[in-house]
Amino acid sequence: MSDQRAQLVADGYDAMIDTWESWKAQIDDDPRAEWCEELAWRLVPGARVLELGCGGGTTETRQLASRFELTGIDLSAAQLERARARVPEAVFRQADLAEVEFDPASFDAVAAFYSFNHVPRELLGGLFGRIHSWLVPGGWLLATLGASDLEGWTGEWLGAEMFFSGWPPETSRRLLTEAGFELERDELVTISEPEGDATFHWILARR
Ligand SMILES: C[S@@+](CC[C@H](N)C(=O)[O-])C[C@H]1O[C@@H](n2cnc3c(N)ncnc32)[C@H](O)[C@@H]1O
Repeated sequence: MSDQRAQLVADGYDAMIDTWESWKAQIDDDPRAEWCEELAWRLVPGARVLELGCGGGTTETRQLASRFELTGIDLSAAQLERARARVPEAVFRQADLAEVEFDPASFDAVAAFYSFNHVPRELLGGLFGRIHSWLVPGGWLLATLGASDLEGWTGEWLGAEMFFSGWPPETSRRLLTEAGFELERDELVTISEPEGDATFHWILARR
């Protein structure tokens, strides 16, 4: 991993993984299950799915791995250790999603739940282009993106140093379209995090 901001995110999740899991358990209006199903019903059994920033073995990771051939990528060794224990049928790899490479047309779908908002936003356009190349024609990208105009924020979050970044929705839409995606579903969704409301940009896009 060559970007210091990625190292900071990896170290942050390694340090506060228990705090993160109990923080996340307090959010009960997250639409992730519905969006995951929105992706899953479009795929045939055994489809090849890549999850970027998979975390520690979420319900969605388990569900995807039970129906498809799942590869999970994360920066954090602590998250991956839990993911491997919770979802032994999937393949997990420690890598920076902003740098990792795959062969063209390696996947039928790519999913990323709440990880792209940790990636420096100037890298997202190039990342969308690379994901496009990893997908088969007609393949799907499901992603949760930041929804605010945030060049980069570094500070204390859940007891560790963390980095967040994101584009406003109109810029994300433009970058996805320029990368060659067609937006199938595109919504801003506000959830109740323990500190207050937070809005994310959910997209389901097709190559
Ligand atoms: C907010 S958590 C979400 C985890 C999981 N997707 C979920 O929804 O619960 C963000 C995850 O993305 C991972 N992550 C952040 N930036 C990453 C990067 N550049 N490459 C790989 N993983 C990254 C973090 O280590 C962390 O596990």
